[in-house]
Amino acid sequence: MTRWQIPPDTVSLRDYERRFHERAEPGVRAYIAGAAADGITQHENGAAFERLRLMPRALVDMSQASARCTLFGEVLDYPILIAPTAFHRLVHPDGELATVQAASLTRTWMTVSTQSSVTLEEIAKASTVPLWFQLYFQPRPQDTADLVRRAEQAGYKAIVVTIDAAVSGVRNIEQRAGFRLPDDVAAVNLAAYPPVAPVSASNGSPIFRGMLKHAPTWRDIEALCRQASLPVLVKGLLNPQDVEPALDAGVAGIVVSNHGGRTLDTVPATIDCLPAIAAQVGGRVPVLLDGGVRRGTDIVKAIALGATAVLLGQPVLHALAVGGMPGVAHMLTLLQTELEVAMALTGRPTLDAIDASVLAPAR
Ligand code: FNR
Ligand code: LAC
Repeated sequence: MTRWQIPPDTVSLRDYERRFHERAEPGVRAYIAGAAADGITQHENGAAFERLRLMPRALVDMSQASARCTLFGEVLDYPILIAPTAFHRLVHPDGELATVQAASLTRTWMTVSTQSSVTLEEIAKASTVPLWFQLYFQPRPQDTADLVRRAEQAGYKAIVVTIDAAVSGVRNIEQRAGFRLPDDVAAVNLAAYPPVAPVSASNGSPIFRGMLKHAPTWRDIEALCRQASLPVLVKGLLNPQDVEPALDAGVAGIVVSNHGGRTLDTVPATIDCLPAIAAQVGGRVPVLLDGGVRRGTDIVKAIALGATAVLLGQPVLHALAVGGMPGVAHMLTLLQTELEVAMALTGRPTLDAIDASVLAPAR
């Protein structure tokens, strides 16, 4: 099978996932599938969506139907964004440039990772859609500030600070596969910043004395919100008790996420965390969700439980690996179409019409 050829029986996101696993090299598969520890949370993200049942209304007037939503004053055709994922060049030589072209073709907003394998400036140049920049705090505060300044200058529309990955999760799947980054793929945005000296066994725990020494706290988020000219979202919030600290810090949005099950294993599925967080937020800022979204019906369920929009992580990389730029565009179109079908068949002509009444009572 030629690379980047979409087999005709690829008709769903799961088909792309299956094809990806048939074709990709074991190390890359392990990194991208990448669940932490025993994969309980990653599995649960999907299983929790599957447990929810829909309850349609019949014969609703759908003549004015639309899946549009508004985020930070701009209209989004579908409530679907691309989540930040590192190193797209692992699966395609054009990397994030192919992804952003597909995003532009389908009018999908994209979040670019701090660890992208093409620079944030080059990605912005190739884009005709709004882009968000995902920020990992750097060991030196001036480097973090520089990344934010670069994103602002390149025209990014929001900063998404990831708060659930102060240290890497226990990535046993990657470790078993012996994954390491190939020499020609790197976190190019960080090339100009000096690396931190690794912590040696003699000066303490590499976890507690190493990365965590530089990990942000709510005070850093507050400073960032004050300094940045862009809206700042936090990504990786699961506990409703963290909502007030986030809003006090001045965040403009919250992404309910468990990093696709890649950080702390055995935390709950994101869709199960969403209702309590949405209730606590009470509409003060938009709440988004990622983790296990694979079907149009999953999006209906997320919106029913309080999300404004959802983000996709692994499916983008699966489609990029299998079909290149057209693969990602095709995958996004499949999901947009599935969402329209789900809205039509549940009798919900707009996203505003999707509330908890679209879910069947728990059995
Ligand atoms: C990620 N994710 C991620 N998140 C982030 O904030 N910065 C990053 O650099 C990355 N990198 C990354 C790499 C890969 C290979 C994956 C699969 C994921 C997490 C990502 O943004 C998102 O939270 C999850 O992927 C959502 O779950 P699904 O859609 O993959 O089930
Ligand atoms: C990951 C990091 C890059 O999930 O966020 O692999």
